[in-house]
Amino acid sequence: MSRFLTDRIALITGSGRGIGRSIALELSRAGAFVVLVGRNAGRLERVREEVLAEGGRAEFSTFDLFQLGRIPEFLEDVESRWGAVDILVNNAGMAPTAPLATTSDDLWEQCFRLNLLAPEALSHGLLGGMTARGFGRIVHVASTAGLRGYRFTSAYCASKHGLVGLTKVQAAEIRRPDVTVNAVCPGFVDTDLTREAVQRIVAATGRSADEARSLLAAENPIGRLLAPQEVAAAVAFLCRPGSSSLNGVVLPLGGPIGHD
Ligand SMILES: NC(=O)c1ccc[n+]([C@@H]2O[C@H](COP(=O)([O-])OP(=O)(O)OC[C@H]3O[C@@H](n4cnc5c(N)ncnc54)[C@H](OP(=O)(O)O)[C@@H]3O)[C@@H](O)[C@H]2O)c1
Repeated sequence: MSRFLTDRIALITGSGRGIGRSIALELSRAGAFVVLVGRNAGRLERVREEVLAEGGRAEFSTFDLFQLGRIPEFLEDVESRWGAVDILVNNAGMAPTAPLATTSDDLWEQCFRLNLLAPEALSHGLLGGMTARGFGRIVHVASTAGLRGYRFTSAYCASKHGLVGLTKVQAAEIRRPDVTVNAVCPGFVDTDLTREAVQRIVAATGRSADEARSLLAAENPIGRLLAPQEVAAAVAFLCRPGSSSLNGVVLPLGGPIGHD
């Protein structure tokens, strides 16, 4: 891979496992210095070691993104330690399931805080600097749940639809040609988050884990679960210097999504 992100600093939330880990490795392979963010220091340290073992550069900062009011202070700390952030990947997220009728106020609030308000606050805190420096890439990891409805995921779907809307507004308001905001919308990906969904289906329906997994895979038009690396490749493409004409793109991964 060509090192098209050499000397760029990339902050990736939720990078201790799953899709975020793959994005961190992919951006590092493209030359970026990656700043890993999550709550679990042990997992972040393991990803940092993976990056270093490949010859990349990485640091991590533990932070709980539910603490929206502390995000400006968190960003100040990151930039004073490692430098101005050129690339922000808003990947951390949660995907609880519950029928709409029993989705609690708490669940609505948590989903909106983590999946929508934290990405907004992080972007808000970094876009000014990106604009002043004349280069920036923000990629939101939304979901096909930001494009269509899935049963029993009301708070998740609504928050991801919000994130897609945020992408479009941020892109429309940007006034610098080399600063972009885009979103990727993966279908079901083979990560712990999906494995947890499989366990919930097994518990609720008595189906086998294989059956539950096949049900989720069948929801993807491509007919299989995506690999985290496939999401990472799309994110890296949006971050390329040559991708500056891609602004406000909402990219479905795993096949075309119709409207239910
Ligand atoms: N897996 C899928 O099928 C799929 C499909 C479409 C979209 N997505 C989206 O892709 C993103 C990543 O999904 P994934 O499957 O990789 O999920 P995952 O394996 O559950 O990883 C989520 C990451 O988010 C971090 N995180 C969660 N709450 C946090 C908080 N309060 N503060 C900081 N970090 C937090 C977690 O780290 P800590 O626990 O260390 O905090 C973890 O590293 C999510 O936004 C998800 O909605 C996933």
